[in-house]
This record gives sequence, structure tokens and C-alpha cells, in this order.
Amino acid sequence: MYIKNKTIIITGASKGIGKTLALELAEYSCNLILIARSENELLEIQATILKSKKSNCSIFVGDISNLSFLDLVVSKTIEEFKQIDFLINNVGIGCFGSIQKYTEEEFYSLFETNVKASFFLSQKVLPFMKKSKSGQIVTIISDVGKRVFDTGALYCATKYAQEAFTSAMRMEVRPFNIKVSNIYSGLVDSDFHATRQGSKEHQYWLKTEDMAKSIIFVMNQPKNVVIDELMIHPISQEY
Ligand SMILES: NC(=O)c1ccc[n+]([C@@H]2O[C@H](COP(=O)([O-])OP(=O)(O)OC[C@H]3O[C@@H](n4cnc5c(N)ncnc54)[C@H](OP(=O)(O)O)[C@@H]3O)[C@@H](O)[C@H]2O)c1
Repeated sequence: MYIKNKTIIITGASKGIGKTLALELAEYSCNLILIARSENELLEIQATILKSKKSNCSIFVGDISNLSFLDLVVSKTIEEFKQIDFLINNVGIGCFGSIQKYTEEEFYSLFETNVKASFFLSQKVLPFMKKSKSGQIVTIISDVGKRVFDTGALYCATKYAQEAFTSAMRMEVRPFNIKVSNIYSGLVDSDFHATRQGSKEHQYWLKTEDMAKSIIFVMNQPKNVVIDELMIHPISQEY
């Protein structure tokens, strides 16, 4: 188990894919650092993980687009655990509709949350990964980082931006033995959508457990192996 005893930062861990991933990783004796804005949800997840006595768990409550908050997360993590083995860039928000309808506020909100946060958090963890000549950055993009749909102009633009910067970053940091892995998924049953997690419309979509297992597969590879890209869909979704 290559992920055993590793220090792992997960953004957007209060619900959806990030929460399920945190709970599944807790089985592997890891140091988990969980980030989101919802304090109560994070406290609940932390209590569950600590109660199982299988992993350590620290939580950071704040807005991922605030760069001083990201500095705090990284410095506290290093102070406590000395290194960062994995960063899971999972936070993402959506906004959909005709190109006519978007406001400047929505535009900046999506770019700050989806692109700026994953870009700068990657920037901030890399010096520590370079120093240890190891580490992995996994970004949960979406299949719409590689294709578009008619009401997705803004969301797709942020996912293409993530695809672009992570792909350039992969080339830059490979000589340091640092793995950069992107996950491109189709529809996942979570609260990300207008309809809530568990809704009837989501019944044939991927479950957050399917995502967590795939992400752990990408993380849990020998030192000499990197899964650069993983594309995953529910069989019911056309691709
Ligand atoms: N669901 C899908 O169908 C699907 C498909 C393809 C790709 N994805 C991608 O998968 C990733 C996770 O999506 P999900 O379905 O798990 O979504 P979700 O259930 O809506 O969860 C999003 C997480 O991000 C956190 N978050 C949002 N804005 C934040 C901010 N400004 N600062 C800190 N945390 C913030 C939320 O926590 P708080 O609200 O507590 O802050 C929550 O924990 C996203 O990048 C999404 O684009 C999703």
C-alpha cells in the first residue's frame, strides 16, 4: 500500500467526492488535511475519522480562493507532518446556462474557486515535493476539461484552464519525480448539481464511492508508475 502513512491534503472535503475520499483514505493510516468552508460538516468528518483511530485528521475551515488561507494550510501541515505527499485538488463549483446570462461576479467566482485555488495551492506545495523528490498532485477536473456542452461555456472554460495548467505543470515537475494526475469524470451523484445527492435523476450516475476508489487507485501506484490521466463515466452516459 503506497498511500499508507502518507500526508494528504484534500480540498472540498465537506461533502460529495472529497468527503467520501477522505473517509475511504482514513482506512490507510494517513495524515489527512481536509479543507472546506462548512465547519460543522468538517468537524463531523474529523470526529468519525479520529474515532476509528486509523488515521490522523486536521481540518481547515476557509475559502480556498483566499491565498493567505492556502499559505496557512501549507505552513501548518508542514509544521505538523514535515512533508506533503499528496495534494488532491478537488474543489469545484458550477454555473450553467446561456452565455448571455453570466455576470462578472459569476465569472470571477468560478475562475477563483476552480482555477486560481488549484493553481496556487499546487504552487505552494511543490517546493516541499521538490525537496523530497516525491509527491503527487491529483486534480479532479471533469470530462468537460476535454469537451464542451452548450450551456457550459463558463464551467468548461475553468475546466479547460485546469487541464492546461496541470498539463504544463506535469512536464515541469516530472524531472523531480513528482506525479501529476488528472481525473476526467462524467456525471457523479453529489450536491454539485441543481438536484440534490440521491435524487432519482442521479440513480445511474457514478457514486462518490466509485470516484473515491478510482482516485485511490491513481494514488496507490508504485514509485515508478504514474497514471497521468483517468477518464471515467457511468455506462449510462454517452461519451
Ligand atoms: N458531480 C459531478 O457530476 C462532477 C463531474 C465531473 C467533475 N466534477 C468535479 O468534481 C469536483 C468535486 O465535485 P462534487 O461533485 O464532489 O461537488 P460538491 O458535492 O458540490 O462538493 C464541493 C466541495 O467543494 C467545497 N467548496 C466549494 N467552494 C469552496 C470554496 N470557495 N472554498 C473551500 N471549499 C469550497 C464544498 O465545501 P463547502 O461548501 O463546505 O465549502 C464541497 O466540500 C469538482 O471539481 C467538480 O467540478 C464533478
